[in-house]
Amino acid sequence: MLLLVLSAFLLSWAVVAFDIVHHTGPSAPYFDAPSQDRIPVETPAGCTVDQAAYIVRHGARFPEPGSSTGWQQLYTKLQNNTYSASGPLAFISSWQLPVDDIPHEPLFLTSIGALEAFSFGVELRNRYGFTQGGDNITIWTAGQQRVVDTATYFARGYLSQGNYLSNITENRANLIMQPDSVNYTFANSLTPSAACPLYESGDTSSVATTFRASYQPQIANRLNQYLDGLTLNATDIGVMQDLCGFETSLNGNSQWCDVFEDEEWLDYEYADDLNYYYGSGPGNPFSATVGFPWVKAVSELFALGPNETTPGGNIIPPPLLMGFTHDNNLPPIISALGLWNTSVSDSVYPLSLTAPDPRRKFRSSYIVAFRGYVALERLACTTTPANTTVFHLANTTPDPVPTEVFVRVRVNRAPVVIPGCTSGPGSTCPLADFTQYVQTTRAAAAGDFVQMCGLQNISNATSDATFFTVADPESLQTVVPLNYVVGMTNT
Ligand SMILES: *[C@@H]1O[C@H](CO)[C@@H](O)[C@H](O)[C@H]1NC(C)=O
Ligand SMILES: *[C@@H]1O[C@H](CO)[C@@H](O)[C@H](O)[C@H]1NC(C)=O
Ligand SMILES: *[C@@H]1O[C@H](CO)[C@@H](O)[C@H](O)[C@H]1NC(C)=O
Ligand SMILES: *[C@@H]1O[C@H](CO)[C@@H](O)[C@H](O)[C@H]1NC(C)=O
Ligand SMILES: *[C@@H]1O[C@H](CO)[C@@H](O)[C@H](O)[C@H]1NC(C)=O
Ligand SMILES: *[C@@H]1O[C@H](CO)[C@@H](O)[C@H](O)[C@H]1NC(C)=O
Ligand SMILES: *[C@@H]1O[C@H](CO)[C@@H](O)[C@H](O)[C@H]1NC(C)=O
Ligand SMILES: *[C@@H]1O[C@H](CO)[C@@H](O)[C@H](O)[C@H]1NC(C)=O
Ligand SMILES: *[C@@H]1O[C@H](CO)[C@@H](O)[C@H](O)[C@H]1NC(C)=O
Ligand SMILES: *[C@@H]1O[C@H](CO)[C@@H](O)[C@H](O)[C@H]1NC(C)=O
Repeated sequence: MLLLVLSAFLLSWAVVAFDIVHHTGPSAPYFDAPSQDRIPVETPAGCTVDQAAYIVRHGARFPEPGSSTGWQQLYTKLQNNTYSASGPLAFISSWQLPVDDIPHEPLFLTSIGALEAFSFGVELRNRYGFTQGGDNITIWTAGQQRVVDTATYFARGYLSQGNYLSNITENRANLIMQPDSVNYTFANSLTPSAACPLYESGDTSSVATTFRASYQPQIANRLNQYLDGLTLNATDIGVMQDLCGFETSLNGNSQWCDVFEDEEWLDYEYADDLNYYYGSGPGNPFSATVGFPWVKAVSELFALGPNETTPGGNIIPPPLLMGFTHDNNLPPIISALGLWNTSVSDSVYPLSLTAPDPRRKFRSSYIVAFRGYVALERLACTTTPANTTVFHLANTTPDPVPTEVFVRVRVNRAPVVIPGCTSGPGSTCPLADFTQYVQTTRAAAAGDFVQMCGLQNISNATSDATFFTVADPESLQTVVPLNYVVGMTNT
């Protein structure tokens, strides 16, 4: 009896603890990833972040045209047949497509996506306190509309305090928009994967399709028990599972989420893990190559410290280096940093094509969820222990305490350790060791962009991301001041 009560309790706990949308990969609305390395998320005591760099996926969007067609086909199937449905499928005959403005739907930001971006701006302004009073901030973004919109809402949130909203001369963002997913920018881009001709040859993400075929038919069979007069197949299951994360990110409706069992969600998530690991992550031999230029550029700026520019630079970048892009340009940063591809057990990586290993840290839901990000932080830490008595003499400012400098990686807020470099507070990496790691170990793993991508014969091809410190010609960037109230003149 006790056992029964106990197992019922554990079962109900497990059901509550399993948050389905946290397993929906790239269609998940943003959530803070759990700390996989058991490191507290707070900045360690005695440390201050004095520089940070973020590369961020756009916020929640409507589906791409291909997925949109799949949604419509499912809707037609559910409407244009006569059948009875029960149990978890009882709602399907009344389910409506979540569309109300078709010309503005495929691919564009949802209002939840706008909220994700705005609240991120608020969060980072408060976390770092970098931009004083009415200062400007410069923000870099790839040029597609949903990405620019994400950068814009971020800026509005970041600069939302004070009464600056309608004052276009103060407290505004300068957005630097770059050509999006073109091949003529080479490494100097927030979408470098599109500029490496050989990158696609390393993309073996079709293994995800094979994995999906291993579980979708069983799900269809299970659900067909609840239908009379209608038969679901693997294609339908794919669309129905996608709708869980998407509808949640779009209008908060999570009806489709409850149709599937936890194990079915874990398979769904793993298919996306395979898709990203072998498509744009460590399983693509060109992944580190295309992620490395951003990592190198940031590491050089961290080595210089805040308010400095690189030799030859004509921009002093802000201490917060924001870059907005697409999902497929985040896993390359993980590869370039050498994360989530090694473990104490050799069997975890490369990811198995058939058997999900629960010990893996590479999880699509924890990086490419909408508005997901990879961040690097530079921490200046006092060398005095935190628990010492501090003496304050009236009206004096204490001499600066000697500091040591460290680097931390965060992925969707969770701190992630740099392999072999954890001696700093909160398992951070000493700056000098980080610089060395990037310049030697990771440079070797990534190779040179021009060489690796087969661009040796293109005379203006570059292996460096210089956009943070060198203004590009107008053909390669558009600078847009963010005027808070468009159309309102500052009188
Ligand atoms: C709905 O079904 C009818 C036949 O019952 C068919 O003629 C029609 O083309 C179908 N409509 C769609 C949108 O599939
Ligand atoms: C803010 O940006 C505007 C427009 O680019 C520029 O004129 C102004 O000098 C900038 N202010 C600061 C404090 O950087
Ligand atoms: C906008 O800011 C500028 C600079 O601080 C200030 O001179 C001006 O009065 C402000 N305009 C309004 C409408 O508040
Ligand atoms: C870029 O793409 C165009 C069109 O596919 C192609 O003609 C051109 O050779 C490519 N350039 C580079 C540098 O790969
Ligand atoms: C390289 O040259 C091509 C052809 O002249 C031009 O279209 C492209 O914008 C150039 N790219 C860069 C990064 O200068
Ligand atoms: C599933 O059924 C739809 C029609 O309802 C069809 O278009 C699709 O090709 C089928 N998929 C598979 C895998 O059989
Ligand atoms: C960087 O420059 C800004 C603006 O001039 C200033 O407020 C800030 O204190 C500087 N930060 C450092 C670390 O020097
Ligand atoms: C990831 O690990 C695999 C297997 O050890 C290795 O072949 C690959 O080069 C690694 N990728 C990166 C980016 O380090
Ligand atoms: C701080 O120091 C005091 C006095 O030595 C001690 O009682 C206390 O436990 C210390 N606190 C921590 C968090 O170490
Ligand atoms: C570059 O051009 C040379 C001479 O035309 C040719 O032999 C070589 O194969 C080319 N290399 C690449 C990577 O296209």
